[in-house]
Amino acid sequence: MNAPQPLVDIIAGARPNFMKIAPIIHAIQARQAQGSRLRFRLVHTGQHYDERMSGDFFTQLGIPLPDVNLEVGSGTQAEQTASILVRYEKLLLDARSDLCLVVGDVTSTMACAIAAQKLGVPVAHVEAGIRSGDWRMPEEINRMVTDSITNWFFTTSEVANNNLRRTGVPDDRIFFVGNTMIDTLLANLDRLRPPAFWADAGLQPGGYFVMTLHRPANVDDLSGFSRLLKAVGEAVRGVPVVFPVHPRTAKTLASLPDKPAGLLLVDPQPYLEFNHLVRHAKGVITDSGGVTEETTVLGVPCVTLRDSTERPETVTVGTNELIGTDPAALKPALDKLFAGQWKKGAIPEKWDGHTGARIAEELDRLLAG
Ligand code: UD1
Repeated sequence: MNAPQPLVDIIAGARPNFMKIAPIIHAIQARQAQGSRLRFRLVHTGQHYDERMSGDFFTQLGIPLPDVNLEVGSGTQAEQTASILVRYEKLLLDARSDLCLVVGDVTSTMACAIAAQKLGVPVAHVEAGIRSGDWRMPEEINRMVTDSITNWFFTTSEVANNNLRRTGVPDDRIFFVGNTMIDTLLANLDRLRPPAFWADAGLQPGGYFVMTLHRPANVDDLSGFSRLLKAVGEAVRGVPVVFPVHPRTAKTLASLPDKPAGLLLVDPQPYLEFNHLVRHAKGVITDSGGVTEETTVLGVPCVTLRDSTERPETVTVGTNELIGTDPAALKPALDKLFAGQWKKGAIPEKWDGHTGARIAEELDRLLAG
């Protein structure tokens, strides 16, 4: 009889998923070359579909083309969840897998976990256990729902492990493996490259800020967003701010009566260009979670416009500081940065570039015996 060849569905749907799946795929491929019988099927839900939000990342990070694209596209939270549920369930009914591996906290993560677990397909969650405590963020709901129906938890921190233990998850289902997003960053450090506008804009290392904003709380309300941009303009002392504009943010920006001065508005950047910008920035202003992990590892000061974070180690160990969503807090934070008083930070435990390999090894042990 032939030995079993367990099939893992690797789910990706939105931009922050792509850098998290790349090292897992590469580690499985490396094990296959050594004789592992583990197979994977790459399922793209189609939540993000623009080249700049999706395709560019596959090309730059050497991710194979998806085996399946569910093509759900844009919609409300409920519409996207519903479409993914229906379409992924159909895929599993037509061709069942042995494990559904989801990463991060986007709508695709939660929806695929639900579809799989309801059909008795076990779920593994990479980046499990992190919590902001803020139920206004769709990502927090996605994390809680996903973790409540996950079989195997791959975690980035001891804080995440403890969050899971508190909800009754036994230790033998928690695997503290580190951070796959950091695997991707470290693997690509030597490939980072300036974007085409770098020279034309006269950018110099240490001579500009990078800003990313896309949380509904910061960008959906026109007057609030306008006040925020004005506060940024006043706090940066004439230093240019490179602002890659997320599609959600672009909609609000298009309705602003005056375009803010001092901001270099650019399209969403591909991975290698974006992280080149971050690596050489004087500082980063953001409301993203993932970016705070990258700035921590790159040692770049990071000002986060949020009240809470699901990644507390970026603050307690790294270079990140939470200043809340009141634009008035920007100036004192940047004054500290200009005065050279920003904390130096260190790198959290196991954020060492080997997380994908640890995950693939566990998957092999769990599934292929
Ligand atoms: C999603 C994730 C968020 C992540 C972010 C990164 C959820 C709940 N949120 O938020 O955690 O940080 O991605 O980008 O899953 N759009 C395009 N082109 C695309 C994709 C989206 O134009 O390729 C537009 C949509 O039409 C929509 C807006 O961008 O108007 C928001 O997209 P959506 O997928 O709903 O959520 P994000 O805000 O991107």
